[in-house]
Amino acid sequence: MSFSRSIKILIASAAGLAFTHDVPTVLAQTVTYSRHVAPIFQEKCESCHREGAMGPMSLVGYDEVRPWARAINRVVLSGEMPPWHIDKSVGIQDFSNDRSMTDTQIETVLRWVAEGAPRGNPEDMPAPRTWSKGDVWLFAESLGPPDLVITSPVYTMPTSGADVWYRPITETGITRERWVRAIEIRPSTRSGRRITHHAIAKLQQDEATPTQRTNSIEGVDAGLFMEWAVGKQGEMMRADTGKLMRPDSQILWDIHHHAVGEEIETAIELAIYFYPDGVVPRFRQHLGLFNVISGDPRNLDIPPRTITRNQGHHVMQRAGRIENFQPHMHLRGKAMSMEAILPDGTVRLLSHVNNFQFNWHNNYIYADHVAPLLPAGTTLRFTAWHDNTVANRDNPDADQWVGWGDRTIDEMAHAWVNITYMKDEDYQAAIAERSRGRSLETLQE
Ligand code: HEC
Repeated sequence: MSFSRSIKILIASAAGLAFTHDVPTVLAQTVTYSRHVAPIFQEKCESCHREGAMGPMSLVGYDEVRPWARAINRVVLSGEMPPWHIDKSVGIQDFSNDRSMTDTQIETVLRWVAEGAPRGNPEDMPAPRTWSKGDVWLFAESLGPPDLVITSPVYTMPTSGADVWYRPITETGITRERWVRAIEIRPSTRSGRRITHHAIAKLQQDEATPTQRTNSIEGVDAGLFMEWAVGKQGEMMRADTGKLMRPDSQILWDIHHHAVGEEIETAIELAIYFYPDGVVPRFRQHLGLFNVISGDPRNLDIPPRTITRNQGHHVMQRAGRIENFQPHMHLRGKAMSMEAILPDGTVRLLSHVNNFQFNWHNNYIYADHVAPLLPAGTTLRFTAWHDNTVANRDNPDADQWVGWGDRTIDEMAHAWVNITYMKDEDYQAAIAERSRGRSLETLQE
């Protein structure tokens, strides 16, 4: 037991995680791969770490996992894997796309490595998990085949070389307004998964929404439409809510490829499921790019060997529901938070990403029962920290003065947030519905 306590302290200090539960009973027994660890890896690692998936190695079965025990210990302890970099001790914690491990799972894995990573009794192994071959659309079962599939130009990644950020533009071909109810995205070839670190599709179209314009770095509104990074491949809108695609819209791709020792070709496919013709959902999700730098983003100024903090504010002119939080920074990005300052002055921390990793464009999508419902007049306050010291492992050069720019070695700070704006009466109804029945940790008391 004292062993487990020391692990707890170690984890708590290394990853800033908070443990509130009792020592799990699993720790009273010898932790074995077959019995305790394999089920965790099936649930939390295999989606990326299996043959043909994006992870650099497969972690299916003891023989594949054992050689990585030390590396696994490191990435689990540091909170790098599974990629989920939000502070678990503050803010909202229920997300519809959470791929993180529970505290108990973390302790189990660390304890297993510390005890020599034993195999245990192979008869304890869970049945192997089966994975789709990558050629089925997930929502086709419930919604039928997608209404529109938009494909990026094919990219050929050579056997070796530096990482590539490929950003082509594709016309959507839409000729009238359509309401989107679900989106999926994936590499077009199975081998394409291996070279695709992430793929983001942004929707660019003319918008006449002034509340967004003021927060947009670009002149036109570009919003995050969908991201592919295994583990989360599709997104279904909340009930009665849709995204609007306008005629003459375009998809801006942002695709990160890396070489894997073999020449591989792939495109990215975006599948869109529309609401039936004539059905207009009650609520529209607005895609917003929220600048976290006061004033012009080009003011960003990060001196050598310092940690800087910047803030941006956005007043919600209408009531609304915050659907997600996705911080965007580059190599010096360290942390970003999103707070709501309610009209009565109460400040609520919604989410804090305290372990930002440039490689991962994690989008934290709130679960239905906790997605913040905020009244008109709420100020959203975003705070970004950049670490330009040598302590930041990703920092290419702590002696450089860094400013705003597109290149990876320049910096940025903005958040992609979907907001579903509502009339006051709809907002009141949504709050009433929440407080009915369930006792929830929502932002409304
Ligand atoms: C969403 C996809 C994804 C999930 C889920 C995931 N990984 Fe990874 N993992 C990656 C990718 C991609 C890399 C390559 C490094 C990077 O890009 O961060 C990686 C790297 C690693 C490494 C470092 C390998 C090295 O070369 O040092 C280890 C160890 C690892 N993962 C273990 C795990 C374990 C254990 C789990 C489950 C508890 C897990 N990963 C879950 C995608 C994932």
